[in-house]
Amino acid sequence: MSEIKKIKKPIVDEMNVFEDKFKTSLKTRVPLLDKIMHYIIKRKGKQMRPMFVFLTAKLFGSTKESAYTAASLIELLHTATLVHDDVIDEANFRRGVFSINALWKNKISVLVGDFLLSRGLLLAVEKEEFNLLKIVSKAVKEMSEGELLQIEKTRKLNITEEIYFEIIRKKTATLISACCESGAASAKTSEKNIELMRIFGEKVGLAFQIKDDLFDYTQNPLIGKPTGLDIREKKMTLPLIFTLNKVEKKEKDFIINTIKNDSKNSKKVQQIINLVKENKGLEFAENKMIDLYNEAIELLSDFEENDAKQSLIQLVNYVIKRKR
Ligand code: IPE
Ligand code: IPE
Ligand code: MG
Ligand code: MG
Repeated sequence: MSEIKKIKKPIVDEMNVFEDKFKTSLKTRVPLLDKIMHYIIKRKGKQMRPMFVFLTAKLFGSTKESAYTAASLIELLHTATLVHDDVIDEANFRRGVFSINALWKNKISVLVGDFLLSRGLLLAVEKEEFNLLKIVSKAVKEMSEGELLQIEKTRKLNITEEIYFEIIRKKTATLISACCESGAASAKTSEKNIELMRIFGEKVGLAFQIKDDLFDYTQNPLIGKPTGLDIREKKMTLPLIFTLNKVEKKEKDFIINTIKNDSKNSKKVQQIINLVKENKGLEFAENKMIDLYNEAIELLSDFEENDAKQSLIQLVNYVIKRKR
């Protein structure tokens, strides 16, 4: 059995219901939008966020209606932010195929992202899930702030490790945190447990983005996007930030100058990647990721052992070990 299949075992039924709900929520009578929605459904992602919602809900009991709403809503928001993110990053590939902006251009992509976002928020309104609406609206606000903070720091090339963590907390960790928080809230567990799961999700989310950033240094067709893209986009992630703090002035100047003036030069980008590798920048980021992993798992230690808990631990494991 594949790793993901094993993880999904306690929530197979939930995931099936979720998929139906997700598809239904994308229905529209506007032909162009309908065509794009079909394209999106055909190439689904890993669906890790709904898995986090359901496993957290099951950790505390049974799956209630509210968990289904949370899972669909969050996957819709996630999809919306990916469509917008690819416009922002001028990225032509996503999930191993052309991105929406590559096929339909920016104008349409902005509107498609807005459609997905509002469709998601409406789900919560229709079900009068105002607590959920609050949790995810906060996450959406933070994601926009995170993306903007990243753009600002990218332009000035003055990013520190601390700011890196602030960016990834906002742009990625808050949504995964929202999955675990809303999953726990749907099961009507104590405020203390809900808060604990919020923190758990945040740690997992940070580890998740560090892993995503590490992919940029690995050649692997499964990932579905090329390597060295972050550097080309002038985006400094943890392995590079660490390297910049470590190397001699001459090398530091080379890296900064290349990113500033010549970031699309493949040979120089490769030289930067080599410098990061030589200076153990990847190991540094991996270690940070493993620390977060351990802290997250530790938070689960007081909860009773059950299938959902086992799967949740495996899912966190998958986050840091995954190949795509
Ligand atoms: C990608 O998220 C965007 C990040 C926050 C790094 P996923 O890796 O979960 O994307 P899909 O949904 O599986 O494609
Ligand atoms: C993903 O960010 C999008 C959000 C978290 C909003 P990135 O730009 O770092 O991720 P990929 O590599 O495009 O998936
Ligand atoms: Mg991107
Ligand atoms: Mg981005």
